[in-house]
Amino acid sequence: MKTAITEMFGIEHPIIQGGMHYVGFAELAAAVSNAGGLGIITGLTQRTPDLLAREIARCHDMTDKPFGVNLTFLPAFSAPPYPEYIAAIREGGIKIVETAGRSPEQYMPALKAAGIKAIHKCTSVRHSLKAEQIGCDAVSVDGFECGGHPGEDDMPNMILLPRAAEELKIPFVASGGMADARSLVAALALGAAGMNMGTRFIATREAPVHENVKQALVAATELDTRLVMRALRNTERVLRNAGVDRLIEIEREKGRSLRIEDIHDEVAGVYPKVMIDGDLDAGAWSCGMVVGLIKDIPTVKELIDRIMADAEHIIRSRLTGFLDDGKATRRAA
Ligand SMILES: Cc1cc2nc3c(=O)[nH]c(=O)nc-3n(C[C@H](O)[C@H](O)[C@H](O)COP(=O)(O)O)c2cc1C
Repeated sequence: MKTAITEMFGIEHPIIQGGMHYVGFAELAAAVSNAGGLGIITGLTQRTPDLLAREIARCHDMTDKPFGVNLTFLPAFSAPPYPEYIAAIREGGIKIVETAGRSPEQYMPALKAAGIKAIHKCTSVRHSLKAEQIGCDAVSVDGFECGGHPGEDDMPNMILLPRAAEELKIPFVASGGMADARSLVAALALGAAGMNMGTRFIATREAPVHENVKQALVAATELDTRLVMRALRNTERVLRNAGVDRLIEIEREKGRSLRIEDIHDEVAGVYPKVMIDGDLDAGAWSCGMVVGLIKDIPTVKELIDRIMADAEHIIRSRLTGFLDDGKATRRAA
């Protein structure tokens, strides 16, 4: 399948793996890129720019295909040295960066000077337009369904994507709630040039996370996510667990006076405990509503091949079938 996104990034299929904290290691990024999608290493999971440089080198050893690095600009307990991370990305020969969180404006000149294409992930039309205006090459439009940070507008993709299509000149992919061929075809119909998946890629054989996490995703339904940190305007969609129940209880008690320090134990340092040790109840970890559509743990290649084959079937048979039947009915009349 050829779209503006496959052309822009030099990939075979219009499927991107979004950066994911403690999931987006070289193993997953390489598996996605080798299967014809765009794999992304999560920059800040590497605690220093040197470690990121090593992770990029490891990924180059595992694939000759293009892959990217995610740089997330979110409120953090201590700000990371972004210019040094960008230097590691540039020196690692990376040509695609997925930015997310706050606007990447101040880093755009450095990215452009290095010939790096930027795809900014954001949750509203106004932020997408801002990304276009500051020179981003593409946008990942992330709906309210998404795992991670859906923003504060609560706009689902059935509205957000066509609105983005009405306004944007640069290409965009649909992100949030994407799991299979139905998601891809719907995203294309709504104006996107591909899709970005997070949660779905965690439940794959190559995702380098504890087996407990994958089994939890298969077991969960679409009713099992919760929104946390709304009072801090840093809303995150997470999988419900004992740590999240504790967090929600604290949020209830504190109301509008909630401060990040109040929930430190439930949100700080949780990811290694969950993703490496398999301690699912350690606290809040991102997960999308799309978890309700995850029923198996295929290899990344099986997943992507299945999506592309089923998408072709939906387009060629199901969708054109409606038109052909329509014609036949009209002819018969
Ligand atoms: C466990 C997990 C960790 C994530 N970590 C990050 C991150 O560090 N930076 C980022 O930009 N997005 C992060 N995301 C968001 C994903 O890149 C992607 O945008 C999102 O998962 C899309 O929604 P979906 O889960 O419905 O596919 C994370 C998502 C998950 C599920």
